[in-house]
Amino acid sequence: MEKLGPGGDVHTLHVLRFLPKQQFDVVVDAGCGTGRQTIALAKGLRTLVHAVDSYEPFLNDLTRRARDAGIEHLVQTHCMDMKDIPDAFPHIDLLWSEGAAYNIGFPNALTTWAHAMDPGAFAVVSELSWLRERVPDAVRDFFSTGYADMRSMQQNMTIAENAGYTVLGTYTIPTEAWVDGYYEVLEPRAKALMRHPDSSVRELAVDTIKEIEIFECSEDSYGYVFYVLGIAA
Ligand SMILES: C[S@@+](CC[C@H](N)C(=O)[O-])C[C@H]1O[C@@H](n2cnc3c(N)ncnc32)[C@H](O)[C@@H]1O
Repeated sequence: MEKLGPGGDVHTLHVLRFLPKQQFDVVVDAGCGTGRQTIALAKGLRTLVHAVDSYEPFLNDLTRRARDAGIEHLVQTHCMDMKDIPDAFPHIDLLWSEGAAYNIGFPNALTTWAHAMDPGAFAVVSELSWLRERVPDAVRDFFSTGYADMRSMQQNMTIAENAGYTVLGTYTIPTEAWVDGYYEVLEPRAKALMRHPDSSVRELAVDTIKEIEIFECSEDSYGYVFYVLGIAA
């Protein structure tokens, strides 16, 4: 898949332009995957982006895509665990992470990365979040096992503040950003795998279809929220 999660360059760049500065020395994209947003950031900032992911095939894909886009000199890949970012990059001034922080726990990710941030640095981290109190029962049931750690926006902002950041703003990606190039690609692929001989593939296909059905009846009760965070200068 070209996209490993919902979103799009237009949203990445919208949030990027929200930052009060556009020049950074050390930019790290944590959990970059195949790097859709890495390439958008590198092109948008015209500066080197360190792309961190623990799955090498994704990074190989990103290297190829950066070459195709003529910006291989602006993307450096690092196959490593994002929890080790402070050891590898002790002086970050822009930390970006789309749909990946949850892998090491959103609160843990923010606390860990805070150690790597220079004074005056920014962190932009997106996280699946409850958007309102009233949640359809089927949606609540699904996420009680699908992502039991999902929190409200207010809870996530408090977590960020407790980790030492100032919350400068939030941005929720619109509903269509889940469909365009993501669910519209994923759904037919999952349906085609429902009769796969490997039961684990079949299970993944069923879970994927279920996730899309839940999204369709979610009544906008959850969404992907970008938290735009600053570290005091
Ligand atoms: C849902 S994908 C999001 C990828 C990309 N940011 C995007 O939005 O398209 C999550 C990514 O996190 C990576 N990942 C998971 N755990 C990780 C870890 N501990 N350290 C580094 N990367 C990790 C996965 O390999 C995957 O590429």
